[in-house]
Parts: sequence; structure tokens; C-alpha cells
Amino acid sequence: MDFSIEPVLPSDAPRIAEIYFSAFNNPLSMRLMPRNEEGYAFQVANYKKSAEEAQSGPEKDMVKVVGTAPGQDPVIAGFAQWKFYDGTPIDEGEKKEKTQWPSGSDAELCDSFFARVERERRTAIGEQPHYCLQLLAVDPAFSRRGLGEKLLKWGLDRADEKGLVTFISASPAGRGLYEKHDCKAVHNYEVVPGYSETSMVRPVAGLSRG
Ligand SMILES: CC(C)(COP(=O)(O)OP(=O)(O)OC[C@H]1O[C@@H](n2cnc3c(N)ncnc32)[C@H](O)[C@@H]1OP(=O)(O)O)[C@@H](O)C(=O)NCCC(=O)NCCS
Repeated sequence: MDFSIEPVLPSDAPRIAEIYFSAFNNPLSMRLMPRNEEGYAFQVANYKKSAEEAQSGPEKDMVKVVGTAPGQDPVIAGFAQWKFYDGTPIDEGEKKEKTQWPSGSDAELCDSFFARVERERRTAIGEQPHYCLQLLAVDPAFSRRGLGEKLLKWGLDRADEKGLVTFISASPAGRGLYEKHDCKAVHNYEVVPGYSETSMVRPVAGLSRG
């Protein structure tokens, strides 16, 4: 099978949601996103919106890895979502719209975890422009074939073209892959019992940080 990187289309959202649910089954993800119809519908709507934003603006990138083989339908095997931050300081007083999490999710944990990741990103990066890997997932049926690496490299190459540092909030499953690509752990913290997240920073290739 040959694999290539292509932009995610809004019509890919159901397959992207399917990959999310098959790949993210760690103790944190199980509490954040319920494995029911409402959780699936939430994720489909979420990815459709992200793909539309990626298509229409410069801030977000959403890419998929597509496998093709003679006589077979192409299959989406994984995806990644990236976001540019221009370094504008956040207005702490600004009210963010509250996300309505699907029923069955631990809404308090969702709010506190995503707010924590935001704080971690700002602490690690400060106010310099940067690129951020928001999501990376490969269908377990395609794991350890270099596809996660291909999706990661796509974004890191983009960061290097633009001369940007990269921030990643890494799950335990992703950390080894990121370390292999010069991402340095700057903080590790427990989110729920038995699950720790790691804030990681990668300098622009060829440059040391600072
Ligand atoms: C993390 C993930 C994207 C890796 O995808 P993948 O396609 O299986 O990874 P690759 O085949 O590209 O791995 C490349 C290298 O990364 C490292 N790596 C990948 N998965 C690893 C794991 N579970 N443990 C340790 N190292 C790992 C290895 O060095 C690997 O090279 P090797 O297979 O030659 O040893 C995938 O496991 C996944 O979707 N996990 C669940 C979702 C998740 O946690 N995503 C990360 C969010 S931050």
C-alpha cells in the first residue's frame, strides 16, 4: 500500500471521528469523550468545522494520510491537526464561549484539562509565534508503519519553513515519537490517576532554543 498526505475535507469528518475513537482509548480520553452516539455526533461536527476552517483560513491545517493499493478503495489511515499562533498575548479577561460537551463526558475534566493545556502552551512558549500540534491519531489497524511519523514530519517541515518553534501536549503514546524528532519534554503532570501528559517544545531545525 502507498501512503500520501492530503488535506482533510469536511466530508471526511465521519471517518476522522472513527479514527479518533479507535486510537484514543487511554484513561483520560475515555473520560473526556463518551463512546456513544452523542459523543460520535459531537466529534463529527467538531472535525467538519475544523476541516472547513482549515480550508478557508491560514490559521489551521488538517491533514490525513491516505493509503492506496491497486484494486482497493483508498482508505484514510490517520490524521493530524495543527494550528498557528501569531504570538498575540491572550486577553485573560475575554470570555471564551463555553463548550457544550456531550452528555456522558466528564465536562468538568474537559474544561479543566483543555484550560491546563492552554496554560502549559503559554508557559512553555511565551508570546513568540509558534506552530502547535493539536491532534495526531493513526487507526490502530495501521500502527507502527511510520504513518504517525509521516504526519508529524509534515507539520515539523512546515514549522521549519516558517522558522517557528513547535509546541506539543503529548499523550504517553505520542511521547516516544516526538522525542525521536527533537521535541524536548518541558513539563510532565498527572491529569487523572495513571495518566500523565507531557508538554513538549521543538526548536526550529538547526537552532537550539532561546
Ligand atoms: C502516537 C501514534 C500517532 C503513533 O502512530 P504510528 O503510526 O503507530 O507511529 P509510527 O509508526 O510513525 O512510529 C514511529 C516511531 O515513533 C515511536 N513510537 C510510535 N509509537 C510508539 C509507542 N507506542 N511507544 C513508543 N514509541 C513509539 C517509535 O520510535 C516508532 O518507530 P519504530 O516503530 O521504528 O520503533 C498512534 O499510536 C496513536 O494514534 N496513538 C493514540 C492517539 C495518541 O495518543 N496520539 C498522540 C496524541 S499527542
